[in-house]
Amino acid sequence: MDWGMKNRLSRIIRPETGKTVMLAVDHGYFLGPTTGLEEPEKTISPLLPYADTLMLTRGVLRSCVDPGTNVPIVLRVSGGTSILGNLADEGTTVSMKDAVRLNTAGVALSIFVGSELERKTLLALADLINEGTEVGMPVLAVTAVGKDMVRDARYLGLACRIAAELGAHIVKTYYCEGFESVVRGCPVPVVIAGGKKIPERDALELSYNAITRGAAGVDMGRNIFQSDNPVAMIQAVREVVHNNMKPDKAFDLYKTLSSSSEIKGRRAAKAGK
Ligand code: R5P
Repeated sequence: MDWGMKNRLSRIIRPETGKTVMLAVDHGYFLGPTTGLEEPEKTISPLLPYADTLMLTRGVLRSCVDPGTNVPIVLRVSGGTSILGNLADEGTTVSMKDAVRLNTAGVALSIFVGSELERKTLLALADLINEGTEVGMPVLAVTAVGKDMVRDARYLGLACRIAAELGAHIVKTYYCEGFESVVRGCPVPVVIAGGKKIPERDALELSYNAITRGAAGVDMGRNIFQSDNPVAMIQAVREVVHNNMKPDKAFDLYKTLSSSSEIKGRRAAKAGK
């Protein structure tokens, strides 16, 4: 692996801990203005100091993130479908040249293993890896799960392994029962998505379980930006991911931070008060 590729990877996964807190705010690419992300800039800016990496689309990056920011970007480069259509029918939406021009640390694309478009999405991943290799750009494969698929270790293990075999540098998947076997069967770092919003204590436990069973971090969206206190939540998630803080302690931290005046001030600012 060349220096540029290694350097970019070390910007995504922190070398000090071997872990990462990726803040996922790319949902609008197929969901539109989803709850909590109606005005991306307002959501993103107070969270930036606590995110190791920001995962988003080109459009939101250009229009809602100050180019002076230091946060490494993982750019979603797949899309072209919406929640109203066939999600698996994605294509590649950003050229590698533009990803380099935007100074991204990595690019992300979804694969739909088991769908009727499995082959198309897997070959799109392979093409992206080929292009990324030419310029030293890591590729994160997102194992998207269709509505009729079961999110179990057998399915997720299959999808993660295929992504790694094709050359993905990081794989993003879901936590599941037997998650350790998914990690064991995947020779590259695995990060978990948070999934639908659940109570804060549960989301912290989910993160803890994933980390203690081998995840390299989280690529979390709704459980942070839809939290009652996103700034407190991302800090609690950080403690779990980077310092193995136990869920109860992390939830106490979340509550303490939530009641601090600084956070209250940020919430008020977010609400435009
Ligand atoms: C979905 O396809 C997007 O890639 C999200 O980035 C991903 O699902 C993670 O966000 P969440 O934690 O909200 O599931």
